[in-house]
Amino acid sequence: MTQTTTLSQRNIITMESLTANDIDTILDTADSFKEVSTRAIKKVPILRGRTIINLFFEPSTRTRTSFEIAGKRLSADVINISGAASSTVKGESLIDTVRNLEAMSPDILVVRHNCSGAPALITQFISKPVINAGDGTHEHPSQSLLDLLTIREHKGDLKGLKVTIVGDIAHSRVARSNIHAMKTMGMTVKVVAPPPLLPIGIEQLGVDVCHDLEKGIKDADVIMILRIQLERQNQGLLSSLREYSNYFCLTEKHLSNVSDDTLIIHPGPVNRGVEISLDVMEGPRSLILNQVTNGVAIRMALFYLLLGESDANSN
Ligand code: CP
Repeated sequence: MTQTTTLSQRNIITMESLTANDIDTILDTADSFKEVSTRAIKKVPILRGRTIINLFFEPSTRTRTSFEIAGKRLSADVINISGAASSTVKGESLIDTVRNLEAMSPDILVVRHNCSGAPALITQFISKPVINAGDGTHEHPSQSLLDLLTIREHKGDLKGLKVTIVGDIAHSRVARSNIHAMKTMGMTVKVVAPPPLLPIGIEQLGVDVCHDLEKGIKDADVIMILRIQLERQNQGLLSSLREYSNYFCLTEKHLSNVSDDTLIIHPGPVNRGVEISLDVMEGPRSLILNQVTNGVAIRMALFYLLLGESDANSN
């Protein structure tokens, strides 16, 4: 791996702040790292001696594990801290927590937090780079990047593609990151949801809005299904999950009206049978596990681009 590139940002907090050149650089770098995960010995020495801290205040399977695997495949030392097992439960503030972690000389912090804006706040108090691994309902940039990599692998160019995002747009940091990123990359985005699951003013982000699943996916190159966030549905926005599924669960019947080349993606975790039927989820157009595979390469690329070059310069 000899590529040297720079990003316009030293932290990865939002897709809104990344340029098209940044996104291309990250996707190209991730592409070149994919091969490492196919080797018998899945390790390269690029970040040997570097320390990564994963600080997760919310549950995670895919994101936390793939950031850890990505760091280890680059030979970094990776420390995982869960919020529930940290001294925040004894009353220590988030800022005191990260300042204490920084005092142990990590090279980068990966942060997931239930409060929108927490990773951005942290960047004001520590000097090391921060990667947002999902903050509240705000953004989830590495998820968006792995989504784009998966789409690019199957469609070639991103520019001009039509994407329909279906589901709980109001609570979705994945939708927000992807809307920003897809618009930056010249893609057309439509959102499909019942009105209570759409944030007021969503059109201002440059998306088309539709309340009918069949109409909304008709011309789509890519259908992104979002999870109904059961843990964030305490405001009574939906009368029942069954009613939501009746109108918005993607089934084979809907796919009979779209092109055979239309791709299906979902960030996971999936509520089987609520937002996507079992046969669609397991069907030939579904790229859900490809997305997870690409998550490792994207996170390797982010670590490399934020740390690798300065590592090379310090040798
Ligand atoms: N897509 C995603 O963020 O999954 P996890 O919550 O399991 O990390």
